[in-house]
Amino acid sequence: MTFAATANAVLYTGAEPVFVDSQRQDGNVDPHLLIEAVDTLRTEGRDIAAVITVDLFGRCCDYASIEPALAEREIPLLEDAAEALGASLQGRAAGSFGRVAALSFNGNKIMTTSGGGMLLSDHNDLLERCRYLSTQARQPVAWYEHTEVGYNYRLSNVLAALGRGQLSRLDEMIDRRRQIRERYASGLAHLPVTFLGRGGAQRGDDDDNCWLTTLTVEDGPDADAVVGALSRQRIEVRHLWKPMHLQPVFDRARTFTTGVSDDLFRRGITLPSGPALSDDQIDRVISTLVSLISDQGQ
Ligand SMILES: Cc1ncc(COP(=O)(O)O)c(C=O)c1O
Repeated sequence: MTFAATANAVLYTGAEPVFVDSQRQDGNVDPHLLIEAVDTLRTEGRDIAAVITVDLFGRCCDYASIEPALAEREIPLLEDAAEALGASLQGRAAGSFGRVAALSFNGNKIMTTSGGGMLLSDHNDLLERCRYLSTQARQPVAWYEHTEVGYNYRLSNVLAALGRGQLSRLDEMIDRRRQIRERYASGLAHLPVTFLGRGGAQRGDDDDNCWLTTLTVEDGPDADAVVGALSRQRIEVRHLWKPMHLQPVFDRARTFTTGVSDDLFRRGITLPSGPALSDDQIDRVISTLVSLISDQGQ
């Protein structure tokens, strides 16, 4: 379960994506299934270039299980931390887990430069290579000399300046998103809903950047009905990411599924979570959801 950009990046390199299902409590990749998938592919003689994990909705994956298992198998880990800037796991920041991690500063992210992103790594040779490729693979000579095909993937200096301004307010923005989550959690506590990453998880919200507050409705309307009903009240509730193996563009990709992401997609919604929301607006979302779900439950 992720945004298509993660899988598209695999195809850009000429590699083939293989999808692995989610764990139920937060939608992040199921670490046991991931290792099972890796071992199955290896047994079949497949070459595994890398594993990409996605820290979904602002919450780190279970790296305590994933990192050592991949290290033992000598498979590089790439972390898609696009949604997780400011999140952490046992004192380690999101974006510090893989050999290289990607952040997004797209307009909908916890901090934005309107577009663009950043790579994070301790491997300077890798970063040098990325800088070179992202600036049209120009050779270090006085004229324009190219021995490889490059890309224009740089973040402009103007956008970087915007980003630095936002970065200084990151903690504040996370705090507000956490308050919003708390308000939803207490306002909806009596409903048959489960917040992703809260109930049932081994850890609470403290490490989460609370980018989006997401939940599944256990007993009541499915996600489509909730999104439709709230949109008629002019409230924008969204579906969770549609899992990659259900996307027509990836319909031929190999997938290791348990049905969890299908189910999360069918019942899961994302609540309005932006830091500019007022408490009154949040309360309106809560009361609309309460009447919708309680009415349907009767
Ligand atoms: C998990 C994930 N990966 C990658 C991206 C792509 O980032 P960008 O839009 O900055 O290319 C996004 C969101 O946009 C995302 O949510």
